[in-house]
Amino acid sequence: MKKLRKEPFNKWVWKILDNYKHRIEVYYGGAGSGKSYGAMQKVILKACNSKRRVLVIRKVQRTIKESIFRLTLELLGQAGLTQFAKINRTDFTIVLSNGSEFIFKGLDDPEKIKSIHGITDIVIEEATDITLDDFTQLNLRLRPGIDVKDPQIFLMFNPVSKVNWVYPYFFVNKPKDCLVIKTNYKDNKFLTKDYIKTLEDMAYRNPAYYKIYALGTFATLDKLVYRYTKRIIPFEEVKDLPLFCGLDFGYINDPSAFISVRIDEIKKKIYIVDEYFKKGMLNDEIARTINDLGYSKEVITADSAEQKSIAEIKKYGISRIKEARKGPDSVINGIQYIQQYELIVDERCPKIIEELDNYTWMKDKKSGEYVNKPVDMFNHGLDALRYAIESLIKGANKMTVRKKPIGL
Ligand SMILES: Nc1ncnc2c1ncn2[C@@H]1O[C@H](COP(=O)(O)OP(=O)(O)OP(=O)(O)O)[C@@H](O)[C@H]1O
Ligand SMILES: [Mg+2]
Repeated sequence: MKKLRKEPFNKWVWKILDNYKHRIEVYYGGAGSGKSYGAMQKVILKACNSKRRVLVIRKVQRTIKESIFRLTLELLGQAGLTQFAKINRTDFTIVLSNGSEFIFKGLDDPEKIKSIHGITDIVIEEATDITLDDFTQLNLRLRPGIDVKDPQIFLMFNPVSKVNWVYPYFFVNKPKDCLVIKTNYKDNKFLTKDYIKTLEDMAYRNPAYYKIYALGTFATLDKLVYRYTKRIIPFEEVKDLPLFCGLDFGYINDPSAFISVRIDEIKKKIYIVDEYFKKGMLNDEIARTINDLGYSKEVITADSAEQKSIAEIKKYGISRIKEARKGPDSVINGIQYIQQYELIVDERCPKIIEELDNYTWMKDKKSGEYVNKPVDMFNHGLDALRYAIESLIKGANKMTVRKKPIGL
């Protein structure tokens, strides 16, 4: 197989071409990095070398013809295989001369997919478009133990959002037996200068797009809850402003999050100046940390769901810790209150910045419309922020009540 010429392949594809060791291969990164071409080159070659039955999946059937099906035909042409293949352009199937088959299907017809048997490999194009449930179903189709040599699933996607299932699945939990390859346009020798310029120009026009589609790193295009600016906040600038501290409890899976903010009520600015995030902390360690950070004498407002923890932390010497009062609408009220301020974050607070970059409004599954509720992720420090400023919100609510009798 190494008699192959190297030229038709990008370097990163060449390196993994005959490596079938990993059950799952994830190709993610920027646009035009050669992920789709690379994956199909690899499976075509695999299918030439032994008899395979490859299922190629996209979310929506009608998008297949002009994308992954067309590029497969182009690659077969390049390899001089077209004349030996049976190509069905209505059912979107291709049979090679050795009997290997490619079946292209949209997930909008799950019953049809269920009836396809003997699958040896699955290619999932634009995997961020499908759901975790979809993936689980497909993954089950290639259960180990079935009589298939080297079964593999290939997934390709752009890193559109950490809220998407692919992020926790492949980057946080990291399944065994999974090869993850990150690429961007610089890894594709076939791109035109114009295409590269379009990508690079995005740096000025749309930073979130640039991050995702040029650099190939995770960013978010969903509707973010908060806008903010980040910079170094000199202590001198904020030292006379009142300080507010908030604490959200986590333990094994989530971190406990402590943040401190300074608030300028007149100029309507919230400065996030300090953060501390850590998993697995018991209450004595939380108390010690708050003490070490120099906040033991401050009022700290903490998640009211953990009254026992609050009492314990108080016992460990953080005497002014108190619980936040959570009402039924406290999340949305808190968010709306904070949104009235300009949010400035010290750039030495990476965790809260990560949350701000990923804390988005929830979308209604059916209509795709945003609803008045945030996604319950990336919100530990941001919950602590709501707790921290809770006393101000209460004040604001009182104002509204007092205004009523005078007709305002
Ligand atoms: N092996 C190849 N031979 C010829 N052209 C290639 C090859 N690989 C990539 N290209 C060219 O590079 C372009 C981008 O490649 P490809 O579509 O595979 O990128 P991608 O990473 O899947 O992009 P996206 O993230 O937008 O889906 C293709 O349209 C094609 O013109
Ligand atoms: Mg692609």
